[in-house]
Amino acid sequence: MKIAITGGSGGIGQAFVRQLAARPGVKCVAATYHRSKPDFSHPAVSWAEVDITDESAVQAWTETLGEIDWLINAAGLLHRPENGPEKTIRHLEPDFFIDNMRVNALSSLLLAKHAGNHFRHGRPGIFAAISARVGSIEDNRLGGWISYRVSKAALNMGLKTLSIEWARTLPNVCVAVLHPGTTDTALSSPFQRNVPAGQLFSPEQSVGYMLEVLDGLKPADSGKFRAFDGELLPW
Ligand SMILES: NC(=O)c1ccc[n+]([C@@H]2O[C@H](COP(=O)([O-])OP(=O)(O)OC[C@H]3O[C@@H](n4cnc5c(N)ncnc54)[C@H](OP(=O)(O)O)[C@@H]3O)[C@@H](O)[C@H]2O)c1
Repeated sequence: MKIAITGGSGGIGQAFVRQLAARPGVKCVAATYHRSKPDFSHPAVSWAEVDITDESAVQAWTETLGEIDWLINAAGLLHRPENGPEKTIRHLEPDFFIDNMRVNALSSLLLAKHAGNHFRHGRPGIFAAISARVGSIEDNRLGGWISYRVSKAALNMGLKTLSIEWARTLPNVCVAVLHPGTTDTALSSPFQRNVPAGQLFSPEQSVGYMLEVLDGLKPADSGKFRAFDGELLPW
C-alpha cells in the first residue's frame, strides 16, 4: 500500500505516520510537515514541506505521489499564540476565522481536487480527514469556539458533498470524516483541564482506534462522520 498523510508533523499526524510505516503491507508513506520537519525517519517514509492551504504547493506535492491507496489529512488549527478559540461572538476576528476555514476546511478540498486522480484504479481506497465532534451542528450544546466549529462543519459538508460526487466518479474510494477523541497534543493542551480521567488519549491510542475504524471501511461506507470508536456522529 502507498499512503499519503498531511499534517504529519502534528501529534495525531505523526502517530499515523509511525503506525502506518510499521505495517508490513505498507511500502510507502508520503508525509507532509508544515513549519518544522519531524525527526522521525523510516525507510518507508518520505517527508515534504507543504502548506496545505496553498493550492500550488498542494498540486506540486500531489504530482509527486504516483498511485495511492489512502490519503489522511491530519492537519488542523484551533489556536495560535495570538488567538484562542472564541468564548463569545464579541471575540470573533476575521483573519483568525478565515485561517480556520483555510486550514480546517479548504485544505481537504484542495487535497481532494489534486489527489483524486491518484487513487489506484479498481482497489478500495480511503480519503480521510480528521474533523472534530464540535463540528457537529446537531451535537452543539455549549456554543463558543465559533471559528473552529464553523470550519469543521464546513469540512464535514465539503466531504459529504465530495462523497456524493466520488460515488459516481471514484466509486472505489471511501470518503471518511473522523473525530479522534480528545487527544493529548499541542492543539488540545490548553483545554485539557476538564477532560474526565481516562478520556484523554495519547496520540498513539487515538490513532490506533482510528486505524481500526479505517481498516474496516468499504467504499459503501463513504460519506459518514465517525468517532474513534466507529460510532456514527450526527452532522
Ligand atoms: N487533539 C485533539 O484533542 C483533537 C480533537 C478533535 C479533533 N482534532 C483534530 O485532529 C487533527 C490533528 O490535530 P492534533 O491534535 O494532532 O494537533 P497538532 O498537534 O496541533 O497538529 C496540527 C498539525 O497541523 C499542521 N498545520 C497547521 N496549519 C497547516 C498548514 N497550513 N499546512 C500544513 N499543515 C498545517 C500543524 O503544523 P504547524 O504546527 O507547523 O503549523 C500541525 O503539525 C486536527 O484536524 C484537529 O482539529 C484534534
